[in-house]
Amino acid sequence: MTEPLDEEEYERPRLGSAGPVRVRVPAKINLHLHVGPVRGDGFHELVTVYHAISLYDELSARRGDRLTLTMEGEGAGELPLDDDNLVLRAARALARYTQRQPLARLHLRKQIPIAAGLAGGSADAAAALVACDALWGTNLGRDELAKLAASIGSDVPFLVLGGTALGTGRGERVSPVLASGHSWHWVVAVANGGLSTPTVYRELDHLRDYGAAPPSAGSPERLLAALRQHDPAVLAAALGNDLQPAALSLRPELRHTLDAGHAAGALAGIVSGSGPTCVFLAADARHAESLAKELVDRGACRSAQPAYGPVAGARVV
Ligand code: C5P
Repeated sequence: MTEPLDEEEYERPRLGSAGPVRVRVPAKINLHLHVGPVRGDGFHELVTVYHAISLYDELSARRGDRLTLTMEGEGAGELPLDDDNLVLRAARALARYTQRQPLARLHLRKQIPIAAGLAGGSADAAAALVACDALWGTNLGRDELAKLAASIGSDVPFLVLGGTALGTGRGERVSPVLASGHSWHWVVAVANGGLSTPTVYRELDHLRDYGAAPPSAGSPERLLAALRQHDPAVLAAALGNDLQPAALSLRPELRHTLDAGHAAGALAGIVSGSGPTCVFLAADARHAESLAKELVDRGACRSAQPAYGPVAGARVV
């Protein structure tokens, strides 16, 4: 079920396309998220293991005489289409970097919920880089796009890359974790409403100031070793997220979601990134299907769907 992470296909030089160029981009979860102290620039030093899962947004890019963005699907209408929008910022950053005008008509079909801890906005920015690179024929290649991506957001380089990867710095320095071809099966349990990432990081700082935060997830060694074993029970015991206590402090009802997943037979459940989405590890695809249904039947979340990972990053389809 794993999609091949086909570097060659992506790296092949392309001429500028008349469009439309369609790019599919996945959501991410963090299998391990160690948050260090806050730095001078306001970001926290991280050691994380990113994992791209089969829940996708799609961005299409056509030639145009201006830069425009339209949107449909999950959360459309809630996201401002102004200059702060990450998609538009990504398109402008690529245009500046390649010294051309940012001319494109972009259309986003969203399935990844926003402010959910799944890096949906960062995913859309990664999609914009890959789509405009193909539309404009700038042919930067994945590594250079990932470098440019770091200027747009901490998670954006990972979403250009995809797969499973170690993230350090503020999350923007990514190196792939050797792919074994093994697929892991998850249930993505989406909550009502979102959580603001900066608020969740601040809450963790407060909990730590008051000595109320549990010990950190620490080094990712155990998680990385678990990934190599291909045994979901082993992986279940190694998942960890320092932001989880902060998300639970802000949204105590997420405890109910995590408990419901456990009661329904999930091998493990954690808050995804800064939340409020919770992800549950299943034994296999069929288990993920039944778990998702059970979570919905128990009213434990707004929606629940099976997903698998790792999958490729932002890619022309
Ligand atoms: O990099 P990005 O713009 O996605 O980060 C959003 C916010 O999340 C930052 O402004 C910061 O408040 C918080 N953050 C952090 N440390 C990180 C990543 C993000 O404090 N490593």
